[in-house]
Amino acid sequence: MLPSNLPAPVRVLVLIFSVVFLVFTAAYLAYQTPAAACVLEHYSDSPAYNSPINKSESIIDITLHKPDTSHSDTTSLQQVLQFIFNPKKFSLTEPSYIANGTEYKLHGTPLYTKPLGKDICIVDIDTRPYTNAHQVMHAGDFVWNDIDRYSAGMLSHYTYATLHGYDYKFINAANYTDRSPTWIKPSAIAHLLPSYKFVVFLDADAAFNAMHIPLEWLLNYWHISADVAIAMALDPNAPTNYDRLHRLLTNTGFMIVQHNAVAMDMLRAWDECPGETRYPGCAEWKQPRFHEQSAFGNYVRYDYGEWIRELPCDEANGEPEFGECRGVFVSHFWWRTDNVKRYFGMNALQALMGRVQGEMVERREEVVEVQAENVVANG
Ligand SMILES: *[C@@H]1O[C@H](CO)[C@@H](O)[C@H](O)[C@H]1NC(C)=O
Ligand SMILES: *[C@@H]1O[C@H](CO)[C@@H](O)[C@H](O)[C@H]1NC(C)=O
Ligand SMILES: *[C@@H]1O[C@H](CO)[C@@H](O)[C@H](O)[C@H]1NC(C)=O
Repeated sequence: MLPSNLPAPVRVLVLIFSVVFLVFTAAYLAYQTPAAACVLEHYSDSPAYNSPINKSESIIDITLHKPDTSHSDTTSLQQVLQFIFNPKKFSLTEPSYIANGTEYKLHGTPLYTKPLGKDICIVDIDTRPYTNAHQVMHAGDFVWNDIDRYSAGMLSHYTYATLHGYDYKFINAANYTDRSPTWIKPSAIAHLLPSYKFVVFLDADAAFNAMHIPLEWLLNYWHISADVAIAMALDPNAPTNYDRLHRLLTNTGFMIVQHNAVAMDMLRAWDECPGETRYPGCAEWKQPRFHEQSAFGNYVRYDYGEWIRELPCDEANGEPEFGECRGVFVSHFWWRTDNVKRYFGMNALQALMGRVQGEMVERREEVVEVQAENVVANG
């Protein structure tokens, strides 16, 4: 939080400068002193903001002070992200969202009218620690241009979680010896689920496309009521995407899992599927594609009927240029994985520059000086 004893114009100024520094670190510019990367951690605690303000001095201080690593001030980061990504304050019960000429409306009484906050956890799951250079958990210099696409995807998830005040976890899971690493999903979600109301998992190449839309709105829109254990998007209509009973598979790249007894039972059944105690034949999916996704589609889902909510492919799968599945709310870039980084970068820069440009226009009269005559005056 910004100290409340500051005059309002100063607080606005601090916010604006933190925004400008965020783009230097988060967008494409290779402005990379370590101090700049710590601006957001630091700015609320700087003595400069608790003492009588000398504006020019305090702004310079932002980049010079050593980072305060004693705690992380996510409230401040949330304010900044809200400022950048959600200028129109899209609410949990906004009647509709319009994208590319299509209106997506809430129907009936909204289920969620209050923020769920830390009852929601956005989770990334991987067997790799992502601590190498150019990866998200690397402690050294951060250069947006160099980070790998999956790290960019994880940064996007953390951004979304922080923007809306949700919890975020990266589960660094143990390796399997006998099956594809993607099999870690059911147990990792089950590990977190007792601590939350909703655990929302995204593959590292999946991301929220409309960052400003809170998950509560999506829960309202998709009507994720108490009798839903898991929600997943359908895959595109293609021969490879059908199960043995010719039913279209759901994609495990985006899952909303709700904490209830059925969900825990379902996750256990899914995790144990290749053991074949409950589902003879399931071991077939230990290694070949689509691994745990095929196991869920071919076996597990047939035991949980209405507890599973299938989301439209167009709304929660694919990407804008894909056609049938444009990923309106949640994109999944399996088609061109690099795009998870490209789109997030584009969206973040667009949102930030939208704010900056908006202010330039607002202050037009102050900013623009019309020079009627192009002469150098004497004196
Ligand atoms: C504010 O700080 C700047 C830079 O340190 C200094 O040049 C200036 O004199 C200070 N102004 C006041 C009013 O203290
Ligand atoms: C799993 O294996 C990968 C290499 O295949 C390794 O990078 C990673 O550290 C391992 N994860 C754990 C948790 O041991
Ligand atoms: C709308 O269409 C444009 C151009 O195809 C695309 O960049 C954008 O992401 C689309 N928006 C949504 C929400 O799908």
